[in-house]
Amino acid sequence: MSSKTLRLSDAAVAASLLREGKTVAFPTETVFGLGANALSAGSVERIFRAKGRPADNPLIVHLGASQDLPMAVSEVTQVAQDLLAAFSPGPITVVLPKCAEIPDLVTGGLDTVAVRIPSCPIAQQVIQESRRPIAAPSANRSGRPSSTRWQSVLEDLDGRIDAILCKESATIGLESTVVDCTGDVPVLLRPGAITLPDLQRIHPGAKSRCDAVPAELESLPNSPGLRHPHYRPNAKVLLYERADGVELSDAERTQAVFLGLSEVAQAEDCLWTQTYPDLDAYAAHFYEALREADRLGAKVIVLELAPNQGIGAALRDRQLRAAGHK
Ligand code: TXA
Ligand code: MG
Repeated sequence: MSSKTLRLSDAAVAASLLREGKTVAFPTETVFGLGANALSAGSVERIFRAKGRPADNPLIVHLGASQDLPMAVSEVTQVAQDLLAAFSPGPITVVLPKCAEIPDLVTGGLDTVAVRIPSCPIAQQVIQESRRPIAAPSANRSGRPSSTRWQSVLEDLDGRIDAILCKESATIGLESTVVDCTGDVPVLLRPGAITLPDLQRIHPGAKSRCDAVPAELESLPNSPGLRHPHYRPNAKVLLYERADGVELSDAERTQAVFLGLSEVAQAEDCLWTQTYPDLDAYAAHFYEALREADRLGAKVIVLELAPNQGIGAALRDRQLRAAGHK
């Protein structure tokens, strides 16, 4: 691999590099993805190496349109058809039985594969012009916060990937909703912009693995990625329900960053405080704010927990993981 990652401005060039087997980061409507030809085990191997990703954490395969599903899956269940008709292209990933052409490396040896059709026009152009299914995890070093700006992708991966398409897009800011669609009811594996109530409007029986009690977990499909640490900044993350709920010493406060929806009363001598106008803005800027706190050398990041509604359920999930909760 060259020591420097190519900076691209043209999606057509990104697509042709993907066709040649290269690793290319590109924007989507959720977060930046690190793409490679999903049909080539050699190319996919380079994604795992660049990210330092555990081999048992499977990748999402990205397609340009639902007519391309047979490139990745062997069956499109009724549940998947219903959800894709309602929410795709968009921030939803469906887990289905995989087809034989997808290498085991992509799925971590599972007989299912996660597929997503992004709505972002830039991602669409990259994938469609590559004429291949594109495996793409979030474009960050494994365990770090995901990236919503190309500069942040390079902070983690410069010199470790072949190229990056330097365009802005990630408007949602949190990864797609992952839904197991292999059975008769959808099972939510990772919350995202498409919420459990959204799924239940299409399939009233939709369940969430995230809300399941331990006795139920055995009988629900698994999400292998959830075993590993995620979204961790260098600073210690503290969670609080309200801004005034946290007690820091004077010394701690000067090295602290506060992020949330409510004004922080006691924050005048802290490193940085950011109040977002609404939940969408909090979610959209969350990963970049964690990264910015690290750049500032923060020792502590104090997060106001997102309410468990709308995109808040997904943001809350990422906040808990950023703080090291399983
Ligand atoms: O928004 C997104 O989904 C972004 C953009 C780039 O599309 N991608 C992304 O990929 O977040 P990644 O690799 O960071 O997360 C993939 C998630 C993991 O939680 C993984 O466990 C789950 O999808 N997953 C992949 N294949 C699976 C499978 N066969 N069964 C269950 N979960 C699977
Ligand atoms: Mg990720």
